[in-house]
Amino acid sequence: PSVAVLMGGMSSERAVSLSSGQGVLSALLEAGYPARGIDPGPDLGALVGDLTANRPDVVFNALHGRFGEDGVIQGVLDWMDIPYTHSGVRASAVAMDKDAARAAFAAAGLPIARGRVVEIARFAEADPLPCPYVIKPLNEGSSVGVDIVRAGSNRRAEIVSAWSYGPTALVEEFVPGREITVGVLGGEEGDIGPLTVTDITPNPEMAAGFYDYEAKYASGGSKHVLPATIHPDAFAEAMRLALLAHRALGCRGATRSDFRYDDTVHGDRQPGRLVLLEVNTQPGLTPTSLLPEQAAFRGIPFAELCGWMVENARC
Ligand code: DAL
Ligand code: MG
Repeated sequence: PSVAVLMGGMSSERAVSLSSGQGVLSALLEAGYPARGIDPGPDLGALVGDLTANRPDVVFNALHGRFGEDGVIQGVLDWMDIPYTHSGVRASAVAMDKDAARAAFAAAGLPIARGRVVEIARFAEADPLPCPYVIKPLNEGSSVGVDIVRAGSNRRAEIVSAWSYGPTALVEEFVPGREITVGVLGGEEGDIGPLTVTDITPNPEMAAGFYDYEAKYASGGSKHVLPATIHPDAFAEAMRLALLAHRALGCRGATRSDFRYDDTVHGDRQPGRLVLLEVNTQPGLTPTSLLPEQAAFRGIPFAELCGWMVENARC
């Protein structure tokens, strides 16, 4: 099939998407697909015109963030009846809206952090949760806008004045311990399903001391251990929860579920507490990204992973 790789776009994760998209395009060309890249700018008419004039068999969606990961572009492609990779409109929209996703996870019985939505205008007045807690935009990815508020830090006013992510925010208890993640390739019987568990340690010398934008994409920004050496029951539970989360949102193709894993109480002696943070419906495909690394660990090279995504495209 001929493939158009959508990359770039207009979100705060534009640079990440260009990196994902360039890698995907090279891999697809290498695997023998007739493929070309499209960087959709703000002119939707130009994109629709291009896809109409040079109609591809499949759109490879390598966009991240707003308009690319939230159901908007998925709706356009549904309208045009062009099959595309990854999740459809509803799953994309729910996954991208952290409040809606939390409600869906809770309804499915999946463990989430204590938290709620707050108005940014009120946030400066008082801590909405006991410290430490995390504040994050409702609709961003790659940790854009994420901050941790620790006791006595007095940073609320600073956070409010720098806030550019709309009138509300999600605040969640800060779960101590580790950051782990599980990629999933398809959620149905016969699919590959959950790949493995990666344990992520951000480089303590860099930036914020959590898995922030820099730790995600700077070379050496974080250390990935896979398969994670956590308690085997917790490992199995993370794999199970990632599959359930993928299914709870009705996702398609590849996703990656991010968790906090609190092993601070029992270490490796007993399984600790797992908390689902989010399901990424457009997981990063950059050279430092987690899903391609997990696929490679499972014996699926990057070109094969991209080919699998193309073959699983739907609309
Ligand atoms: N939002 C980035 C691309 C990720 O989840 O990998
Ligand atoms: Mg994300």
